[in-house]
Amino acid sequence: IGRAERMNFYILTLFPDMVSQGLNTSIIGRAAGRGLLSIRTVNIRDYAFNKHQSVDDYPYGGGAGMLMQAEPVYLAYEAAAAEIRTRRQGCGEQERKPRVVYLSPQGAVFNQCMAEELAKEEDLIFLCGHYEGIDERVLEEIVTDQVSIGDYVLTGGELPAMVMVDTISRLVPGVLHNDVSAESESFQDNLLEHPQYSRPEVWHGKRVPEVLLSGHHANILKWKREQSILRTKERRPDLLERCALTEQEKVWIGKM
Ligand code: ADE
Repeated sequence: IGRAERMNFYILTLFPDMVSQGLNTSIIGRAAGRGLLSIRTVNIRDYAFNKHQSVDDYPYGGGAGMLMQAEPVYLAYEAAAAEIRTRRQGCGEQERKPRVVYLSPQGAVFNQCMAEELAKEEDLIFLCGHYEGIDERVLEEIVTDQVSIGDYVLTGGELPAMVMVDTISRLVPGVLHNDVSAESESFQDNLLEHPQYSRPEVWHGKRVPEVLLSGHHANILKWKREQSILRTKERRPDLLERCALTEQEKVWIGKM
């Protein structure tokens, strides 16, 4: 088999409760309960090496705030990596370092394409920073990918890690019951999704578009595609440049 059945996430954090509580509900929690995902937190504070259990210190050269020290982060990483090594050896796989994602506003900006690439991994480690950041030396040693979830600054890497775990998890086979929906949604081909309607046929005087009630499958597909293109042109023209349109569609857009 190419890919193992289960995808294993390890989240290295000072706030394990925040992450586990955020990810053990709804679709992701259910998928973990069904064994499709394993989401484990590693509390960096458990690897503090002094009696005060502190994991931060002042930055050399001065500057605002505190830094997370290298050693507790490294030991937390080693705990996760050792578990991954043991499991992989058990499967007779050759030794390969796991990917470690460090959440940081300095990273490459996360998108669906990156999520699809990461979803191919069997194990992923996320490193959540706090305070003013982490000693650069441990980052150099363990981090394979630096990722930002957008151009704004959060207080820590936990929410970004949760955003990434959620996005990647829904791409794991079986997590969404409806396999088509992961594919046909917004961004899959860089087009936004068309509007959708459910009962009743008239609500607050607004009718559901006639074509959707027509039962004419080809017309419905054509309408959905046109709506997607229209929406993308109006709301995210930057995406439109990167999506695969037919020559006919390009002409149609040109006339709008
Ligand atoms: N940590 C703080 N801000 C962040 C962001 N925008 N993305 C990822 N990690 C972060």
